Amino acid sequence: MTAPIDPTGTPAWAALDAHRASFDPDLRGWFAADGDRVDKLSFTLADLHVDLSKNLVTDEILASLVELAEQTGVAERYAAMRVGEHINTTEDRAVLHTALRRPAGAEPALVVDGQDIDADVQEVLSRMSAFADRVRGGEWKGVTGKKVTHVVNIGIGGSDLGPVMISAALEPYADAGIQARFVSNIDPTDIAQKTKDLDPETTLFIVASKTFTTLETLTNARLARDWLWAGLEASGAIDGSDAAKTDAVAHHFVAVSTALAKVAEFGIDTDNAFGFWDWVGGRYSVDSAIGLSLMIEFGPEVFRELLAGFHAVDEHVGSTPLAQNVPVLMGLLNIWYVNFLGAQSHAVLPYAQQLSRFAAYLQQLTMESNGKSVRWDGSPVTTDTGEVFWGEPGTNGQHAFYQLIHQGTRLIPADFIAFANPAYPLEDGGRDVHGLFLSNFLAQTKALAFGKTAEEVEAEGTTGPLVAARTFAGNRPTTSIFAPALTPRVLGELVALYEHITFTQGVIWGINSFDQWGVELGKQLALQIAPAIEGDTGAIAAQDASTRALLDYYRTHRA
Ligand code: F6P
Repeated sequence: MTAPIDPTGTPAWAALDAHRASFDPDLRGWFAADGDRVDKLSFTLADLHVDLSKNLVTDEILASLVELAEQTGVAERYAAMRVGEHINTTEDRAVLHTALRRPAGAEPALVVDGQDIDADVQEVLSRMSAFADRVRGGEWKGVTGKKVTHVVNIGIGGSDLGPVMISAALEPYADAGIQARFVSNIDPTDIAQKTKDLDPETTLFIVASKTFTTLETLTNARLARDWLWAGLEASGAIDGSDAAKTDAVAHHFVAVSTALAKVAEFGIDTDNAFGFWDWVGGRYSVDSAIGLSLMIEFGPEVFRELLAGFHAVDEHVGSTPLAQNVPVLMGLLNIWYVNFLGAQSHAVLPYAQQLSRFAAYLQQLTMESNGKSVRWDGSPVTTDTGEVFWGEPGTNGQHAFYQLIHQGTRLIPADFIAFANPAYPLEDGGRDVHGLFLSNFLAQTKALAFGKTAEEVEAEGTTGPLVAARTFAGNRPTTSIFAPALTPRVLGELVALYEHITFTQGVIWGINSFDQWGVELGKQLALQIAPAIEGDTGAIAAQDASTRALLDYYRTHRA
């Protein structure tokens, strides 16, 4: 195992410490002094225009950050990942989500641990495409011979958030009269609400689980199966015989998993199962068979476009010098903010209602990846790691939490994401509403960067204590990501961008961004507490005092 490099022991870290000691951010001054600042700090990443100029860095700071990436081996680790070295050390696995989007026929072929990865990926993609086409075209029928109108993906975490986010983002591309829905929570409300207006005869369930052991997903899958059987029996579509029930499952359930034996145990024919591999992490899996619901909703072509977007960014990362490497630079900026300027969170603010679930998606990607206190060799981290990612689409956020970003005491770097062309161009009295929308994106990033001085406030006639209240300090860092339109390809580029930002930060911190042991304890305890909830006195007695008291409250209030 390659030992992680302690970033705090590098010359670049010492240089950054020195920059921090004399740091006096002045975006107004920096823009005034350097007419090339915008050009120097604007980059093209496939279809994305990325403007880093409103970040709190000088040329010198940026140069030291790039040196930090060099001195911690970011490029080398990325290369190791792409050829299938087992960089997921705690699980002894390769990390090959980038292989999921390699185009068919890519040279040289990717063979890892003796397996032809490209052939495996293309085979599953072809099966998915054929299946999606059959469902979309009505050739695949429910047990009573009807075309599928609703696809319900049952999964959680990485087996849910990617499809949910992309389904909302690409909604204008849905063209087959099939709506996708997503059930994730074990709160029974979730499946109850998502199925209550559905017709079992026209509903197809996709049970999506990498491990096929996840409590929430398997519970929801059983609830869905019961709902299907009960509905079909009630309408007389099937009798209650085992054979009829098995036949119903065969027509209305498919699965996506790495554990095909467990799929068969559940009662889903493995002919109707789509596999992926242990080298795809859950939060990196939307471009694997986990995206089946998307392929059905939008078609194989759209899915391939999405993959092409991912791949374009993978190629950029692999072939672009660090000083122009956009995901690396954005990861480095995050390091500067977290480790040197004390930022604890990072806002992602899409000016696109279609990206309403983008921040939720990024939360798993970034926080499950980099929320770690030990490095990939088990030694403690040497500096702070993973910041909290959060956000909401603009302009809604402007009327909710932007106040704190503008005038609060905390440093909150923010990424603004916008598209020149709307999915739904509408006019208000002859005025393009999208233009009005985007003027807010431009106004916010401008206000955050340059603020408003007390003199400017006074010049408008304000006096007294109100002057301070109306003053904006500015120097609040933002990155602007602009694209022509939210196409499938652009969306793939955006997701891959954040994957590689996360990777960059993980490498610099020396952590394994591809395991998630931190979710295990809660899962174990939930299984131990379940008997206590049901009244098992031994299990109740085994709990701590607070948990016992909460169990008592539950048991006295549960009707
Ligand atoms: O509990 C965390 C987690 O393991 C995630 O990493 C994963 O995406 C999610 O659960 C779902 O897991 P699975 O796809 O195996 O059901």
